[in-house]
Amino acid sequence: MSSPLHSRPHAVQSPCKAAERKSAHIAVCLEHPVEFQTRTTGLERYDLPYRALPETDLAAIRTDVRLFGRRLRAPLVIGAMTGGAGASASINRNLARAAQELGLGMMLGSQRIMLEEPAAAASFRVRDVAPDILLLGNLGVAQLNRGYGADHVRRAIDEVGADGLAFHANPLQEAVQEAGDGDFRGLVRRLEEVVADVRAPLLLKEVGHGLDTDTVRAVAAVGLAGLDVAGAGGTSWARVEQYVRHGEVVQPELAEWGIPTADAIVGARCHAPELTLIASGGIRSGLDVAKAIALGADAVAIALPLLRPALESADAVCTALERLLEELRVAMHCTGTRDVAELRRVHLLVRVVVGPS
Ligand SMILES: Cc1cc2nc3c(=O)[nH]c(=O)nc-3n(C[C@H](O)[C@H](O)[C@H](O)COP(=O)(O)O)c2cc1C
Repeated sequence: MSSPLHSRPHAVQSPCKAAERKSAHIAVCLEHPVEFQTRTTGLERYDLPYRALPETDLAAIRTDVRLFGRRLRAPLVIGAMTGGAGASASINRNLARAAQELGLGMMLGSQRIMLEEPAAAASFRVRDVAPDILLLGNLGVAQLNRGYGADHVRRAIDEVGADGLAFHANPLQEAVQEAGDGDFRGLVRRLEEVVADVRAPLLLKEVGHGLDTDTVRAVAAVGLAGLDVAGAGGTSWARVEQYVRHGEVVQPELAEWGIPTADAIVGARCHAPELTLIASGGIRSGLDVAKAIALGADAVAIALPLLRPALESADAVCTALERLLEELRVAMHCTGTRDVAELRRVHLLVRVVVGPS
């Protein structure tokens, strides 16, 4: 029997085309400068307070946290990237193996392709190599205006054994791509309906242009379990899509638009104090992780820097992440914080930059 999805022709993108687009995203992210060129995360505006005599023992620093019902050895989730295209099965398995090895979480890339083309599902299945990790599925929130509902969300979660699912909101990315989804009307209401009908934790994320405070306020009470701000300063999806479409960036101002990650964290924490908050978008070092947490995040997510290592091996992903986790431990030690709860209470210093305006 065909699913309700298949009875809605406008919801179906050709699976071949979808797989080609995913491969193009990976190729562009590997070959072109896809990060913001002028806009930064804003984290450089803050300093962690350095302590010359911290009351801490580096060997005893604890980075473990609980996130969506799972214990993680550090407040770090591998960001949503891929699935369904050529190399994505091995990318996902290498990321998942590394997450299992290091006790971290992982978000899958958009699962729309596997709901529309069952053969693509295998590239998202990682539970055999990562039985214990926090695993989050992923779908575009705009799909809720295109025939998707609670059944699709449950399938996306159940078919890969995920703990929950993040909806990505990406109006700028869709707007700059050829034939992207332009209809974002009524999605707060649709989210509320789906959240009420799905038991697993559901999140809302952006893709690198940031969740703004109006959006956070609008979704704060719909029953989501968490938010991932995915702010500006890291990967710009308006850049990626222009490279895919034109081979170059033809609208540079659109590519540099978004809410810096630091501002998005502060805004989201202020307007949705009860929700679990993931910070992503340009998190590139252990100090960035520490600052994001001190600004109010419960954990961070990192995508682009792990793509190349993931093409290579799980060990390469582990090496990249271990370096960053070691930096986080040093940052916590030298601010005198013994665990993540104490890091959350650290008062960051605001740097005053003097120079030409
Ligand atoms: C190759 C690649 C593919 C991505 N695919 C998805 C996706 O399918 N769904 C999604 O929600 N975000 C996706 N993202 C966005 C990331 O999850 C993240 O929000 C964004 O890249 C900002 O983080 P970064 O600066 O650490 O890359 C992708 C990112 C990369 C680099």
